[in-house]
Amino acid sequence: MHVLVTGCAGFIGSHLCERLIADGHRVVGIDAFRDYYPRPDKELNLTQLALEDKFDMVEADLVDVDLAPLVRDADVVYHLAAQAGVRKSFGAFDEYTADNLVATQRVFAAALEHGCRRVVWASSSSVYGDAEQYPTIEDVTPTMPRSPYGVTKRACEDLAGIYRGLGLSEVGLRYFTVYGPRQRPDMAMRKLCEALYGGDVFPLYGDGGQSRDFTYVADAVDATVRCGETERPLPLYNVGGGEEATMSHVIATLEDLAGREIPLERHDVQRGDVRRTCADTTRARETLGWSPTTGVREGLKQELAWVSALRTSPVG
Ligand SMILES: NC(=O)c1ccc[n+]([C@@H]2O[C@H](COP(=O)([O-])OP(=O)(O)OC[C@H]3O[C@@H](n4cnc5c(N)ncnc54)[C@H](O)[C@@H]3O)[C@@H](O)[C@H]2O)c1
Repeated sequence: MHVLVTGCAGFIGSHLCERLIADGHRVVGIDAFRDYYPRPDKELNLTQLALEDKFDMVEADLVDVDLAPLVRDADVVYHLAAQAGVRKSFGAFDEYTADNLVATQRVFAAALEHGCRRVVWASSSSVYGDAEQYPTIEDVTPTMPRSPYGVTKRACEDLAGIYRGLGLSEVGLRYFTVYGPRQRPDMAMRKLCEALYGGDVFPLYGDGGQSRDFTYVADAVDATVRCGETERPLPLYNVGGGEEATMSHVIATLEDLAGREIPLERHDVQRGDVRRTCADTTRARETLGWSPTTGVREGLKQELAWVSALRTSPVG
């Protein structure tokens, strides 16, 4: 199969490309190398892919690139490119509307026009905001984003509905806090690991009791691939790792794994941060045959080992 992966130089996108190549597919990846985090980090994400005959990289911006030649050759488009990050979205909203809304509309329109078999794309657990009941269930729990970022993802879900109505086969994935090797440097687990290896003191926002349904990256990738391959997937899936953990628990686990304390600095809760996320994944289990296999302690061990290696042989 020929596939197109947008956001291929990013955290989840680079893992997805590696998995698709291991499965025997030919992959074209596209990325604009946005400066949300440093380009050398993204180039490092591509190290393995650069050695693969079945991988081609296109550096371009989805907001203005001619998508026709890219989409025409693709059986499936995995659209992961976006401007991520809850906090930054309270400023620079034009970047969020361009990279999330404009880019996604262009991908949907091109895929429809060129008869692409399926578009699988990244939504987010952020669409739920602070829910009244947990676990949150697709099509049951109301969506109430608490950040401009969440609003763009929620709007992408509406756009997807329009293109589905026009005949596009598309699947949106509400990823719940994905972590593991190559995690973005703005994310909490990555910052905690860095703090253990001489990086900045970790800024703990709130009392540490906020919890997340953490999802190991290989599990998130597995759900994503299944959405490209299943004959009749549903339009939306929660992708949650199944082991909800508080920030305090994550800190204690990392300290236990590393055998030393993490230097912390306490701050007030940040706007946009929700108290809790917890996914009902019945739908993905029943219709994709998916279930997460890596628990939080094992996943943290992998991320910690990766950060440790990075810090002993830094890039750039
Ligand atoms: N990491 C998580 O926990 C998480 C949770 C929920 C949803 N998501 C979504 O999953 C997807 C991947 O997230 P990630 O953590 O790997 O982010 P990432 O920032 O590491 O990767 C996104 C990539 O998209 C690229 N990009 C952005 N705008 C582009 C454009 N206009 N044209 C081409 N490339 C562009 C960036 O340069 C970047 O390399 C995103 O859509 C994100 O919103 C991630």
